[in-house]
Amino acid sequence: MSALQKNDIVAVIGAGTMGIGIAQVAATAGHKTLLYDTNRTALGAALENLTHILERQRDKGRISVDACSATIANLHPIDRIGDLAGARLIIEAIVEDLPTKQSLFHQLESICSKRTILASNTSSLSITAIASTLARPENLIGTHFFNPAPMMRLVEVISGVSTSEQLAETVFNTLRDWGKEPVRARSTPGFIVNRVARPFYAESLRLMEEGVTDAASIDALMRSAGGFRMGPFELMDLIGQDINYAVTCSIFEAFHHDPRFLPSILQRELVDGGMLGRKSGRGFYDYRGEHRQAQAAVAGSAPAPERILISGNLGAATEITELCHEAGIAVETRDGGEAGIHFGESLLAPSDGRTATRRSAESGRGNTIVFDLAFDYRQTEYIALAASDNAAPEALRQAVGLFQKLGKQVIVVDDTPALIVLRTICMLANEAAETVLQQVCDAAAVDAAMQNGVNYPLGPLAWADRLGAATVLTTLEHLQQAYGFDRYRPSQLMRRRAESGLPFHGGE
Ligand code: NAI
Repeated sequence: MSALQKNDIVAVIGAGTMGIGIAQVAATAGHKTLLYDTNRTALGAALENLTHILERQRDKGRISVDACSATIANLHPIDRIGDLAGARLIIEAIVEDLPTKQSLFHQLESICSKRTILASNTSSLSITAIASTLARPENLIGTHFFNPAPMMRLVEVISGVSTSEQLAETVFNTLRDWGKEPVRARSTPGFIVNRVARPFYAESLRLMEEGVTDAASIDALMRSAGGFRMGPFELMDLIGQDINYAVTCSIFEAFHHDPRFLPSILQRELVDGGMLGRKSGRGFYDYRGEHRQAQAAVAGSAPAPERILISGNLGAATEITELCHEAGIAVETRDGGEAGIHFGESLLAPSDGRTATRRSAESGRGNTIVFDLAFDYRQTEYIALAASDNAAPEALRQAVGLFQKLGKQVIVVDDTPALIVLRTICMLANEAAETVLQQVCDAAAVDAAMQNGVNYPLGPLAWADRLGAATVLTTLEHLQQAYGFDRYRPSQLMRRRAESGLPFHGGE
């Protein structure tokens, strides 16, 4: 399997946030690494800063004395682009502008040999389009590193229509040798991560627009029940509302206005109002001065039912039966029947994508309450519940009390289809399935990308396997029926997996 050799020279163009990080990765891997930037002051400052960082890591014992000096010795700033002629691999990390990148690569073609691999760190431009003005488009590939490049293991290796397969393999193997977790993908809008992650933001924004609950509650649920490192609103505030909104808009445009990627009017309003998140002092949260951050809207304490009947298969929520036993609740179980927890005339059921109100209308049972998905029902601190519009307040109080008795903080939300975590996970899995269906990458790559690029606790397709594709499909169909909106249409691949019973992983 081909890969760069240690004595191959690597070059990085653009010494900004990404370029200096990529240069660090290549230099640490043992390559002589040339660094070029049209702004010489920026280049000097970036190298000086990196030297300080490496020396601090050495002083704290995080890297050895030898590794520190070897990395520094491998970094070579250069003044003239012509000095890049001897490089085996050149990675560009300059401004995100198509004509500027095209003209740079055009210039590099005239400087370098046919053997030189040209790579772009673009996060949103088409590799096919960047290569379109080249005499040798087969020599160009995308290497999409994540920020900060030395820390983040994921690199998306992107092939345009002309990219040579052998070259893609060489780059993939080289990145693996550098300690990265590369994944291969076809050049399509958003590649893998920026595309598949859209529902993580979009569904929460939609829930906010409908007043289902507030940002702090959604964030608490997504962190605790969803297992995500950050909630969508705090993450959007960190990324910057303007940047996040621009990525969504560019993907929406690139997919010819597919409603799956419809940008949010609420987010647009924040951008228009200059509420860009942490960097402007205010976004969904207020970061100014001593302002106390909003807290999740947790229900007050309520009495739990003394005895319950658990019927049917609770699916992902099966562990609740054991938790109820452990909490000292008298539990009777019954195989078959509608999956759920019964007390008095009430049913408390895991969400299947229908609202509690619709379930109530279908069953004729007034007191219907649904609860949200959790990654781990034992571990989660927060859980969301929603009651049918006609449910008696006392029935809801008992459902709240039941989960409180299991040690959970309960957030009662408006009766929305598929609630918060279930809705988001199903939509992430659907987008991942669509990405695989469209041959952008395979199932292993999409899950590895989401885990290594944005720290998801589980890849979206592994989540789908855990829930069962049939459950995901049913949830999506219920969402689509509820909204009458194409955004929730299930991917053909999700449908096929549901119909065949084959998992996304391990069943091929
Ligand atoms: P940056 O603005 O921090 O740095 C860009 C550097 O390129 C500057 O130092 C600038 O002087 C230099 N430059 C501009 N035009 C040049 C040219 N024609 N020749 C040589 N040097 C030139 O930009 P950043 O954030 O590092 O982004 C670079 C690329 O990486 C962009 O394509 C961006 O979309 C992509 N990217 C950025 C990520 C991020 O989180 N910042 C993440 C992943 C990809």
